[in-house]
Amino acid sequence: MDPTEFGADRYGRSFAEVYDRWYPADGATAAAVSVLNELAPAGSTVLELGVGTGRLALPLAAAGHAVTGMDASVEMLDVLAAKDPDGTVARVLGDVADPDAWPPGQFDLVVAVFNLLLNLPDQTAQERCVGAAADSLAPGGHLVVETAAPALPERREQRLDVRHVDAESVVLIATDADPATGAVLGQHIELVDGEPVRLRPWRVCACSPADVDRWATAAGLELVARRWAWDAPAGLDATDAPVGVYRRPV
Ligand SMILES: C[S@@+](CC[C@H](N)C(=O)[O-])C[C@H]1O[C@@H](n2cnc3c(N)ncnc32)[C@H](O)[C@@H]1O
Repeated sequence: MDPTEFGADRYGRSFAEVYDRWYPADGATAAAVSVLNELAPAGSTVLELGVGTGRLALPLAAAGHAVTGMDASVEMLDVLAAKDPDGTVARVLGDVADPDAWPPGQFDLVVAVFNLLLNLPDQTAQERCVGAAADSLAPGGHLVVETAAPALPERREQRLDVRHVDAESVVLIATDADPATGAVLGQHIELVDGEPVRLRPWRVCACSPADVDRWATAAGLELVARRWAWDAPAGLDATDAPVGVYRRPV
């Protein structure tokens, strides 16, 4: 399968209508907002890549930052707009792998969390995105990247897991993981009693924290902190830790 045929808006078309129910703001969200607020003094300019329904962008705007949220999915941005009638988060429709689609200007903080980077079709697109993020940073600004990379099997593997069961519904996750390409093609299969089966396809391409380090360094940024989780202490020794903070030198 040609990964570019999957479309940058595929994730949003699959998940916009269930995203806030399936991935509600939780303790990790609050911890992430706190880490981001520490990096950005009040009134900072913030760009969130793959802003989705505003899980992080809305609390960041409420904290007084000027937040821009970029996303390739009209459906996701529509959910965000419905939750943000005053437009406290400026919405930009565009593919983060296309540098020409990026909003102009320089930002104090650029954020790429959850699976945004993994959603890109391949490592070339991921590297391009990190490079564009570096170019969008003001001197002294920070880029925060979370890479919750899927654990790839040693050989190509297809499997079925259960995500959710209740009296009325089941959500199964079918995946086809190919370590040769680093890609995992998946389907969330939603079975609700009395309703047609609903398939929610997605695709991710693995990249490691070390990959992001390499791309960020090549783009002129320096690694300043790493975390195993949003509420874990910051350090620099855990090279596999999924949250990386990079700084553009002044
Ligand atoms: C898992 S959601 C995360 C949303 C939000 N950042 C959060 O943490 O809740 C990933 C988001 O990235 C967006 N996305 C995926 N590929 C993209 C691309 N190539 N360009 C821009 N946005 C993309 C999806 O539409 C989706 O809104």
